[in-house]
Amino acid sequence: MMGESKKLWGGRFERLTDPGFARFNRSFGFDRRLFEADVRGSMAHGEALRAAGVLGDEEAAALAEGLRTLLARAAERGDAYFDEDADAEDVHSFIEARLVELVGDAGRRLHTGRSRNDQVATALRLWLRGEIESVGGRVREVQGALLDLAEAHRDAVLPGYTHLQRAQPVLWPHWCLAYFEMLSRDRERLAEARRRTNILPLGSAALAGTSYPVDREEVARALGFEGVSRNSLDAVSDRDFCVEFACAGSLVMAHLSRLAEDLILYATTEFGFVELSDAVATGSSLMPQKKNPDALELVRGKTARVYGHALALLTLVKGLPLTYNKDMQEDKEAVFDVADTLSSSLEVTATVLRNVRVREGRARDAATVGYMNATEMADYLARRGLPFREAHEVAGRMVLYGLGKGLELHELDLEELREFSTLVAEDVYEALSLEQTLATKRQTGGTSPERVAEALAAARASLTEG
Ligand code: ARG
Repeated sequence: MMGESKKLWGGRFERLTDPGFARFNRSFGFDRRLFEADVRGSMAHGEALRAAGVLGDEEAAALAEGLRTLLARAAERGDAYFDEDADAEDVHSFIEARLVELVGDAGRRLHTGRSRNDQVATALRLWLRGEIESVGGRVREVQGALLDLAEAHRDAVLPGYTHLQRAQPVLWPHWCLAYFEMLSRDRERLAEARRRTNILPLGSAALAGTSYPVDREEVARALGFEGVSRNSLDAVSDRDFCVEFACAGSLVMAHLSRLAEDLILYATTEFGFVELSDAVATGSSLMPQKKNPDALELVRGKTARVYGHALALLTLVKGLPLTYNKDMQEDKEAVFDVADTLSSSLEVTATVLRNVRVREGRARDAATVGYMNATEMADYLARRGLPFREAHEVAGRMVLYGLGKGLELHELDLEELREFSTLVAEDVYEALSLEQTLATKRQTGGTSPERVAEALAAARASLTEG
């Protein structure tokens, strides 16, 4: 099978293809990933041609058998099978050539009423549908790991931050659930993207629709598509589903990279709230003490390439005239890499979460230092009748005083505190306690232990449901 492969379009050509251009034009190096999806699409198309009376029963049976043989050979030999004809133009011509070798004329009839334009759109949608499902499953696994981590440290507390300055203490499970929420939205977006991906373009032919009486609805059913495309011009040139997948994937990566960044910070000596497992860290070739959070840094870094692909896909479809244009061959590597990067990043993130050690003592100590109860002081004064704006001012002056003495608010004597406001009484110390600080955040979505326990149970239930 060496030399120039047989073209699918040779008839009107007099000169051979320039070898440099052939290489440039070739997509088989990467679109071989669509092999199985494309064969399945061909099986359904062959059956539709038979039902329409275009193919005889015997020919259709030979075709179906031939396609099954191709699947078996690829499964058996893997890449070696594809490398036997590595010079094929694309996965579609590779499949057709193998089929003709096996079943002769029946293979030459399969392309009746079909174009590579509706064929590639069909294969890509089939393939992507499966990938979206598997990525969704991996998002779920990360969510499961977050819930396990939350349940293992139900009472743990850490400082919450705004502007990366200590703000107010929060429960550790509350922090875990914040990421759970982001990933729940991601799963919704992926499901939406899947819904619009799961539409059959086959039967649109090159652009105008097919002149053969194929039952498109039946083909859709056979391939598990939700419906058939309504306009042939749109169907062969629509890559919205690729863009949507890359954009939904970009948000997944945004969330993973924020999680990564939090954990990278929390694992530093400066924070010390968690310790990453040796299993997901590396050492330094020079500094013996180092334990570097490479897994998380790579997740953060790989976010960039997914964003890059999303932008590349948007740019790819911008200004393309109707309908199919070869530009669109560039969609594949972007979509493939988004899927691969999402899968590996999600997998590694789950491993990090399943192996992280939470240093509850350090985190709790940090949550009581840095005037994190100053808001409680203001609320205490406000509850005693001081307008909040004034209460805020008074509490601020107390903080300034404490800073001067190197003492936290709850370390100041009652007499000292009363210098700022006579509304302060003995019960202020209870109000300033970590327990009270948390317990008062008892509205929906707040960090009080009851609300967080409910949220955790609800999250667990939602994960088991769907
Ligand atoms: N390899 C091509 C792609 O990915 C397949 C479709 C080719 N269609 C065509 N009219 N040349 O877009």
